[in-house]
Amino acid sequence: MQELKIIGGKPLYGSVRISGAKNAALPALAATLLTDGVTTLSNMPDVRDIDSMCKLLQALGARIKRQEYSISVDTRMVNKWNAPHELVRKMRASVLVMGPLLARFGKAEVSLPGGCTIGNRPIDLHIAAMKKLGAEVSLVKGDTHLVSKRLSGTHIYFDRPTVTGTENVMMAAVKADGKTVLENAAREPEIVDLAEMLSKMGAQITGAGSDKIVIEGVQTLVPTSHKIIPDRIEAGTYAVAAAMTGGEVSLTDMKPEMISSLLSKLRAAGCTVSETDNSITVSGKPPFMPVDISTAEYPGFPTDLQAQFMAMMCLSNGESVVAENIFEDRFKHVPELNRLGADIVIKDRNAIVRGVNSLTGAIVTASDLRASASLVLAGLVAEDETRVLRIYHLDRGYDSMDKKLAELGADIKRTEGPNP
Ligand code: EPU
Repeated sequence: MQELKIIGGKPLYGSVRISGAKNAALPALAATLLTDGVTTLSNMPDVRDIDSMCKLLQALGARIKRQEYSISVDTRMVNKWNAPHELVRKMRASVLVMGPLLARFGKAEVSLPGGCTIGNRPIDLHIAAMKKLGAEVSLVKGDTHLVSKRLSGTHIYFDRPTVTGTENVMMAAVKADGKTVLENAAREPEIVDLAEMLSKMGAQITGAGSDKIVIEGVQTLVPTSHKIIPDRIEAGTYAVAAAMTGGEVSLTDMKPEMISSLLSKLRAAGCTVSETDNSITVSGKPPFMPVDISTAEYPGFPTDLQAQFMAMMCLSNGESVVAENIFEDRFKHVPELNRLGADIVIKDRNAIVRGVNSLTGAIVTASDLRASASLVLAGLVAEDETRVLRIYHLDRGYDSMDKKLAELGADIKRTEGPNP
């Protein structure tokens, strides 16, 4: 099993290009199923979750061609409608094929994902919305079977905003009869990107990016080409890395406004951030001012940057409170950060972080994608060697993180760790 060996203490300098957003690329791949032809997606990140989604599309009968950062999906031969448990278990975003399959073929069979390391993460809101659109839903041996001769536009109010739920329902409603109104919809930039792609295919969507999305169903959608937006979470991760290590890094090919919530917290912590339309330059130096964060739906502070910001607050000169409001169990990085010398106590959905002068290298184990990133960041500033185990989590969502960090001056090596 691969691991990362990091010798901390090297400030990061230089510039790093931000890759395409994993969480925009996944629904875009699923959306190709809505058409009968070849759709080409560019600026696709080279990460494991994209490989998994490509495998799922292939299992459904699609043909995939990859060339550097572009992926073409030929959906003419798609002749299956089920996302099996092996794939859904590995990657929850597999449920995103539900909406497009139902819209195009009138049926979809998607295994129920089950819990994961950050919380229960049910898909009840996806399913309730599909029922409202007219799908008949049954649970057969752990798989959700959805059938509908024709979906009909309706009014859907989400009890809470759900990102993939909003995307799934948008992809189902684009071909429904009549108008669908989604209220309390998620507002993340990835939703806007999907709406833009669907519109290029011929869909009629307004309001994406607000909490009310209106979709007029159309009969047919046509293949298109689409460039995926930059990964705001990857950008945020490198912004924190630059500050934590006492360096100065420019992030290019990104959209600063997509991480405004983080940038204001970085400034409050004493970092310097300068912005252009498509880049930022971040510098900082510990000890930081203690800053509280409270995760929320977009445009609030992203849960996907909570662990990384917490790693930074370990080096503050006071006490900060990190509140996690999106997922009920997303503090798995806390005991691992404490192994590196951090002083963090969990109280319900808050983590109380008391700043320390320094961290010290140790062996730590990654539990999920963003937790892994926080451990890498902590390793970059810890004295001596840190070994981060189980980095397959990191590879699911960060394109070449070790290489990008090494190019910025980090002492980081990927090694084949001992077999378990
Ligand atoms: N929820 C329900 N029922 C549902 C759907 C969601 O109770 O049917 C709850 C969830 O359990 C959670 C909250 O609603 O407590 C919000 O979950 P959401 O559905 O928005 O999350 P998601 O769509 O499963 C996406 C990202 C996650 C990111 C969250 C929140 C993708 C592929 N995944 O997940 O990304 O953390 O939104 O922003 O877009 C990551 O990249 O590391 C990652 C976990």
